[in-house]
Amino acid sequence: MAKWVRLCGVAEAPAAGQATEANAGGTWLCLANVNGELAALDNLCPHRQGPLGQGWVENGRVVCPWHSWAFDAKTGMAEYPVGQQVQVFPLKIEGEDVLVEME
Ligand code: FES
Repeated sequence: MAKWVRLCGVAEAPAAGQATEANAGGTWLCLANVNGELAALDNLCPHRQGPLGQGWVENGRVVCPWHSWAFDAKTGMAEYPVGQQVQVFPLKIEGEDVLVEME
């Protein structure tokens, strides 16, 4: 059953245009700030498991630092190669905490 898990404090969230790695109950996720809006995605790139949270944000996409595959922060879909996708987790802010919904 899905439940909301604390990812980090609002003050620890990345600034606009940046991404970071954050841990939600033992699972590392990529937390990205796209134009002031936070998004939580799988941290492992489907190409060769590069750490997306160590990448950057460009045109609404999280770019993998290893070979630059880029994933839409809202859908998780890659522009190239077509068909590649990472999971995007529902996210909300409650008080001072950033929460994600995990299975
Ligand atoms: S590991 Fe992410 S693009 Fe290669």
